[in-house]
Amino acid sequence: MPISYYSESCIFHLQTENSSYVLQLVKKKYLGHLYWGNKVNHYSGSNELRFRDRSFSPNPDTPDPYFSLDTLPQEYPTFGNTDFRLPAFQVQHENGSTVIDLQYESHQIFQGKRGLEGLPATYVESEKEAETLEITLYDKVSTLRVILVYSVFNEYDAIARSVRFENEGAKSLSLLKASSANVDFRDGDFQLITLPGAWARERDIQKVDLHRGVQSIESRRGTSSHQQNPFMALARKDVTETNGEVYGLNLVYSGNFQGSVEVDQFNYARINIGINPFDFSWLLEAGESFQTPEVVMVYSGEGLGKMSRIFHDLYRERLCRGEFRDKVRPVLINNWEATYFDFNEEKIKDIASVGKELGMELFVLDDGWFGKRNSDKGSLGDWFVDKNKLPKGIEHLGKEVTELDMEFGLWFEPEMISKNSDLYREHPDWCIHVPDRYRSEGRNQLILDLTRKEVRDEIASRLISILESAPITYVKWDMNRHMTETGSATLPKERQRETAHRYMLGVYELMEKITKKFPHILFESCSGGGGRFDPGILYYMPQTWTSDNTDAISRLRIQYGTSLVYPMSAMGSHVSDVPNHQVQRMTSLDIRGHVAMSGNLGYELDVTKFSAEDKFVISDQVKQYKKIREVIQFGDFHRLLSPFENDDTAWMYVSKDRSEAVVAYFQMFGEANAAYKKIRFRGLNKNELYKITELNKHYYGDELMNIGVNLPFLEGDFQSVMWTIKQV
Ligand code: DGJ
Repeated sequence: MPISYYSESCIFHLQTENSSYVLQLVKKKYLGHLYWGNKVNHYSGSNELRFRDRSFSPNPDTPDPYFSLDTLPQEYPTFGNTDFRLPAFQVQHENGSTVIDLQYESHQIFQGKRGLEGLPATYVESEKEAETLEITLYDKVSTLRVILVYSVFNEYDAIARSVRFENEGAKSLSLLKASSANVDFRDGDFQLITLPGAWARERDIQKVDLHRGVQSIESRRGTSSHQQNPFMALARKDVTETNGEVYGLNLVYSGNFQGSVEVDQFNYARINIGINPFDFSWLLEAGESFQTPEVVMVYSGEGLGKMSRIFHDLYRERLCRGEFRDKVRPVLINNWEATYFDFNEEKIKDIASVGKELGMELFVLDDGWFGKRNSDKGSLGDWFVDKNKLPKGIEHLGKEVTELDMEFGLWFEPEMISKNSDLYREHPDWCIHVPDRYRSEGRNQLILDLTRKEVRDEIASRLISILESAPITYVKWDMNRHMTETGSATLPKERQRETAHRYMLGVYELMEKITKKFPHILFESCSGGGGRFDPGILYYMPQTWTSDNTDAISRLRIQYGTSLVYPMSAMGSHVSDVPNHQVQRMTSLDIRGHVAMSGNLGYELDVTKFSAEDKFVISDQVKQYKKIREVIQFGDFHRLLSPFENDDTAWMYVSKDRSEAVVAYFQMFGEANAAYKKIRFRGLNKNELYKITELNKHYYGDELMNIGVNLPFLEGDFQSVMWTIKQV
């Protein structure tokens, strides 16, 4: 039973395959937190809560001087009635007060897991896969109900949490903060691991020691952003890839978020994560409810590698949806870095047909096919084909590509509007804006006000008519600026601070509509590369363009950092031209191939200009990738050498049955008189015999994992090796 309730001790014990999460009703009123960590079969109170009179920690509505919320580890802490630490949520009542006293009212446990209205979330395919606990807390004065939801995925080894606010009273109130989850630990001896970055430098792995006070990450940009990712983990200071404890929290949301940790006076750490309370409030009128996004919580007692694999499996199988969820992904060729806006039908056909010759399966026409889009200065919103570039239309081009026996894909940026567009000339108030203020542009564009139904409907119908007009089986859904002058023309003044969240709900609704209507289309999301690489978007689109930086060396860090949470099947990775367009670096086709083959392989360069020799290398890469892509996309991923800690990088993939594996090793710099290097594998079956195909050598799994294999002597900078391993 994943969830047990012991009525005598008022204890809830949630168990996944390898973890336990224990809470307790204290004084029959307050929800205390007892434990999260390695699985225990029976919890009998060895770390039971202890109480004593602590100075300056008042006592909530009780003469008991020993009891204070200020010192109680809690599940969903509030502010204003004795706890002075970081609250999980805050409301403002009609009379202006922000005090609330949430007390236990009831709970229910049921098989399965419910969806979250209007929001992305993990799901089950059969009720047996998860069990759910809902605990209702109640504030007598305002009659607000707060329902804490915990869904326990036993086999996936994860817990999904969210919160629902129901205002059943006669008065309205405002939510000022509404975290999706909170965990109070009994110590603060952790490192905080996060994934900060920048455009073209997404998801560095940052580890810092916790200190007394508050540390936080957040996005105020209207999207999850390149700059931060809605992921945070608390790890023991000795954690490695294979050992040690780590607690990962990932918010299934693509808008403004905040994750904070506070270490208090007793060195207890409190962590909470949710929609960013900054510049947010939500009016909850009588009878209304509010659903927070979900947070996925993963505990691993076997290091960071295990944590990542839990996230990968859950996201690949029970967050991503649709026909492509379990299908190997096609090798694509995209024209963006080959032509930018400068193309015509002939050029596109040439690229596609050489791509076909080289074994590629999908041609993607990127930006520039619509309106009068010859640069990034206009036309977003005018989703009608540009007959100057493509005189016979998208349908004709699509047919020509499919006649080559290739799939055809198209780029859109549906959430945007250019000032220089017919759509803007017709509807100048359809963008996110504030009256009487200028509208700051980013990449010469504004954001459509997708809080409005008529805007969503119009964009949906424009997209639908293009998607129905041609044999399109892939869509790249881009989003190229962050939100400023945040406001909506149709919301009343007391709801203006709901704009950013309502925008996300609008995006999700639009994505749901389009992806449901075209189940045969593979959707890849993008936001100037990996600016919206988050689980919220993965629910609608199983792939994301990992970064606009296509340089193989930069990509080592970007893909390594991304893998901390997100599965390899979600990562778009392309071979591009040299000198590389973002960093001007020269690298060999081999290493570019090996890095791109480490995710969903694509090519983004003018293959028509290639020499016969280069074409041979590329077609060989494609052939090889087709043999190994199942293991790459759906196998277990193991990080072997970190580019954040070493010059060299290595990772490997092991099929679920452990019969096949792929190892990739990347040398950053050549060195004079260099030492010999070897590499130790992971995840194999120790008693089975394996063959390393490229070396034509056989070794048992235990030897490969304990002793390791000599690497070839690689001369020069930016060298790589990719080995395929098969059980014999
Ligand atoms: C940003 C994307 O990340 C690129 O791959 C490309 O699609 C451009 N937008 C097109 O404008």
